[in-house]
Amino acid sequence: MDIIRIGLLGLGNVGSGVMNILRQNINKIREYAGVHIEIEKVLVRDINKPRDIVFDEQLLTTNPQDILDNPDIDIVVELIGGIEPAFSYIKQAMVNGKHVVTANKAVIATYCKELFELADKNNVEIRFEGSVGGGIPLIDTITNKLAGNQIDELVGIINGTTNYILSRMSREGMSFEAALKKAQQKGYAEADPSSDIEGQDAIYKLAILAAISFGLHVSPQDIPCEGITRISEHEIRYAEEIGYAVKLLATARNRDGKLEIHVHPSLIPNHHPLAAVHDEFNALFIKGNAVGELMLYGKGAGSMPTGSAVIGDILDIIKMMRQSAKTGSSFVSNGEKLKVVGEESGSYYIRLQVVDKPGVLGIITTTLGKHDISIASVAQQGMGQELVPVIFITHEVEREKLDRGLDEIRKLSHVVGEVACILRVESY
Ligand code: HSE
Repeated sequence: MDIIRIGLLGLGNVGSGVMNILRQNINKIREYAGVHIEIEKVLVRDINKPRDIVFDEQLLTTNPQDILDNPDIDIVVELIGGIEPAFSYIKQAMVNGKHVVTANKAVIATYCKELFELADKNNVEIRFEGSVGGGIPLIDTITNKLAGNQIDELVGIINGTTNYILSRMSREGMSFEAALKKAQQKGYAEADPSSDIEGQDAIYKLAILAAISFGLHVSPQDIPCEGITRISEHEIRYAEEIGYAVKLLATARNRDGKLEIHVHPSLIPNHHPLAAVHDEFNALFIKGNAVGELMLYGKGAGSMPTGSAVIGDILDIIKMMRQSAKTGSSFVSNGEKLKVVGEESGSYYIRLQVVDKPGVLGIITTTLGKHDISIASVAQQGMGQELVPVIFITHEVEREKLDRGLDEIRKLSHVVGEVACILRVESY
């Protein structure tokens, strides 16, 4: 049996998962691959750090060139995370003729076009299933299994930390702060949780999904984004009372030649399958013009689920090496005629704190009507207080018109205390 040699860059959470899976499932993996898979070298920062996995310590090195320049290594697996030095290592590996597997969302989201071109130029593969949705095979499903479709829409819950926080707020009435603390204790949040709660983590993942689905690389900094820090447990309860769940949704849809792409906390009707995605789970709802509606669901992070995605990529590359085949990585190009737009229009949830007396709703709806904002439903929550919450769900309206209408509402200080919350509503 031939031997395929792997160089592992990084032995953190995912790297340990890869080592564990290779050990636990070695017979199944070897039989499938038809070759021996050997970890040749592992790059770490500190050789003496205690680690709770079983492996040969002789494999460890602190010198990246032991892997990147090693002629025996066929596949480099990058699991360091962050842009540098990971980006430079990936490029160097490919220039040296090595295939690359990475779970690095920041690098792929930012530099996918350059990396795919470099892979083609050097006749090597680059795979990145673990970069989005952990163990859920999103990338392979979209690029291969759905390759015969035009993808019309992606709506995803692709950050486990925020979904866990929103789930705790909804199910246990926890405050945002208490739920974040619990997510950190559980180890779901990134080292700096602002990347999760401000939406940056979801932005990276959405940029990758959009690139492979629509053939267009949208730079992460060009994707409009709002995190969940403004959402209170009260908002979640109000939304639930009118039949919706609040989720951080990453959305990309082709609307008549325009690619609408954004990340926002949004209301989703309870009957939609995304509303039933709780805790740290991720899910991606896809609409293709042939397959119709599809949803993939599973663990979006973690040592073993993400390790599973990495092993799948390694095995895919080995299969291609044995067939001396090469896939085209240049799928990011066919969407260039799409015009990228952020949040152009939508249906919205608006909570106003208003004075509870006759004629107030009339004044408000007349003002909204002047700006072409049509109301789909209205509900008052409670009575008797000086100001009461009144919730409006609008029909589809341009965001600019909504903002102009709400600016005028803010001036009605004799009847409106505040425009307390504006959220998108996904209407299905
Ligand atoms: N921090 C991420 C999440 C996991 O909460 O989904 C890694 O992408």
